[in-house]
Amino acid sequence: MKKFSRLFAHLLNMLIILGIFLTACTFETGSALPEPTLPSEQNNHKKSYDELVVGYSQVGAESEWRTGNTASLKEAAESLGVELLFSDGQQQQENQIKAIRTFIAQRVDVIGVSPVVETGWDSVFQEAKDAGIPIILVDRRAKVSDDLYTTYLGSDFIEEGKNAALVMVDLLEGEGKIIELVGTIGSAPAIDRAAGFRQVIQAYPDIQIIASQPGDFTRAKGEEAMADMLQLFGDDIDAVYAHNDDMAIGAIRAIEAYGLRPGQDIKIVSIDAIRDAFQMMIDGKLNATVECNPLLGPQFFDLALKVVNNEPVPKWIPSEEGVFFPEDAAEVMPSRRY
Ligand code: AHR
Repeated sequence: MKKFSRLFAHLLNMLIILGIFLTACTFETGSALPEPTLPSEQNNHKKSYDELVVGYSQVGAESEWRTGNTASLKEAAESLGVELLFSDGQQQQENQIKAIRTFIAQRVDVIGVSPVVETGWDSVFQEAKDAGIPIILVDRRAKVSDDLYTTYLGSDFIEEGKNAALVMVDLLEGEGKIIELVGTIGSAPAIDRAAGFRQVIQAYPDIQIIASQPGDFTRAKGEEAMADMLQLFGDDIDAVYAHNDDMAIGAIRAIEAYGLRPGQDIKIVSIDAIRDAFQMMIDGKLNATVECNPLLGPQFFDLALKVVNNEPVPKWIPSEEGVFFPEDAAEVMPSRRY
């Protein structure tokens, strides 16, 4: 019995020693335990385009410019392999706000938005910020504090207004009565294009804006507004300044219906430089168009990727834009992509 218990005690000792040895080996090499992943290392993962999920809230489909802008975004997303969740706001701010809230709930990586009007975005942008989702403004600015958006990609609308005015002053030789066709009320391009234009013409006391009529950036409303103005002022009108080409094309129809010659009896300057505007210049019905570039897709996704990967981006990336005249229209038109 004594012999048996001595043997048992010996075996027990051996087992204890073996256990201690194995445990020591495990901790030394560390190989039996999974490597812990630190949160900072998880954040260091740089996303690529095909891992990027982007929510985009578009203004609507009000103009040829907008159609070209939407096509540029969708084509770029497709060719880069980005997952794009696209929402058409149909020119209604409430639709855009709903879309942004949906993108937040879907936990997209970044939200692009072209705000239909300048104000009223603070709460929903704050919601995106609280959820850690960056906002990139595209094409139009919003009046919010700098911390509520990461960057703005788009045109200098004041500069466009100034360029349109310089051309107008030249066409009118310093004297004349102008009808202004205004874009969507409260939108950044309507506000800034009006302001830029006035900054230049205020130096010419014989040039007057006799009426400013809203046309919501559409052909139909531009035509309607111009028909009303012709009823009111008739032959007194020397020129039309339209905040976009679509409204100018609507005005051209109204002027022809009234029995005057657009481009001759009434000079017309507008903004965007869409293909149809080039055709109007070739036909002698439009006197100039100031470019506003809608082909922002590739630049937008490049920015989105940088923002998501915490790379620095400027607060504003302005577009480079020119002015086009009838004499170059036929040569330039084939190369226009919108
Ligand atoms: O915000 C850009 C403007 O919006 C374009 O000039 C106009 O055509 C569009 O609807």
